[in-house]
Amino acid sequence: MTNSPSPREASNRHSPILQTAIEASVAAGDLLRREFLRPRTIKSKGWRDIVTDADFAAQSAILDVITTRFPDHAILSEERQPGVDWSASRPTWVIDPLDGTTNYAHQFPSFSVAVALVQAGELHIGVVHDPLRRVTFFAEKGQGAFAKYGRGRPRPLRASGNRDFGDALVGVDWARDPLLRRQVLEALGRVTPDCRTVRTLGSAALGLAYVASGALDGYYHLSLQPWDVAAGALLVLEAGGTISTPSGAVWQLGHPRVVASNGILHTLLVKTLALE
Ligand code: IPD
Ligand code: CA
Ligand code: CA
Repeated sequence: MTNSPSPREASNRHSPILQTAIEASVAAGDLLRREFLRPRTIKSKGWRDIVTDADFAAQSAILDVITTRFPDHAILSEERQPGVDWSASRPTWVIDPLDGTTNYAHQFPSFSVAVALVQAGELHIGVVHDPLRRVTFFAEKGQGAFAKYGRGRPRPLRASGNRDFGDALVGVDWARDPLLRRQVLEALGRVTPDCRTVRTLGSAALGLAYVASGALDGYYHLSLQPWDVAAGALLVLEAGGTISTPSGAVWQLGHPRVVASNGILHTLLVKTLALE
């Protein structure tokens, strides 16, 4: 964490759009924290895919904040149908109201809220909020990435400076599809012997935020939806990290397969994972 604060950070003021993303994420996070230990209504959306009453409540809390302030913006939110074309010219909010629903439903304390703003296919705002730890990771394109811990002032985020793969902490999360899980596992078999160790968090947005903060040196996932990855990807890039496809090609929103890292170890991570 060596960046000096930008003028905007030093004054602790955000653009109206970033402020909205932060307030919406925190409103949803407060609700998720209050509800965490209460009984849940859980429904199946498909194979290994569940949704709870809390996902919908968190989504409403976010949409209340955003639609009041920006009624003309488009919205792509996981539990809202129909979706929209996020690559269209209108500013589009890309929202995961609860990333880590399986954890949440099991009262496993690892989940987040992810809110991003995309314009003409480009990421402009990314916020990942961890309600239980009361940490908000946020970034605005070209303005750097920051984290606010509780009531403290925002601190600049910097991807790790680790150059040694043997010291690397690598994050991964599972795809639902059995064949993709096998690929994740095979890559895990290649990376685990060489790195320090591996963590799986159950929230892809949190995994990417940890790459941005330097807590993780790398992260990979083979099956992400735009709302899982949009906010975290901007955090990684604004914190000086790298994000690519597993073959090392340029990653774009909409691509489900992702490798993220501190940048320094990226080529080695991609090579070690040996995924396409
Ligand atoms: C899931 C989480 C998980 C990842 C899954 C995602 P959800 O999101 O990000 O870490 O492995 O692929 O679907 O369904 O809890 O919002
Ligand atoms: Ca998700
Ligand atoms: Ca979700």
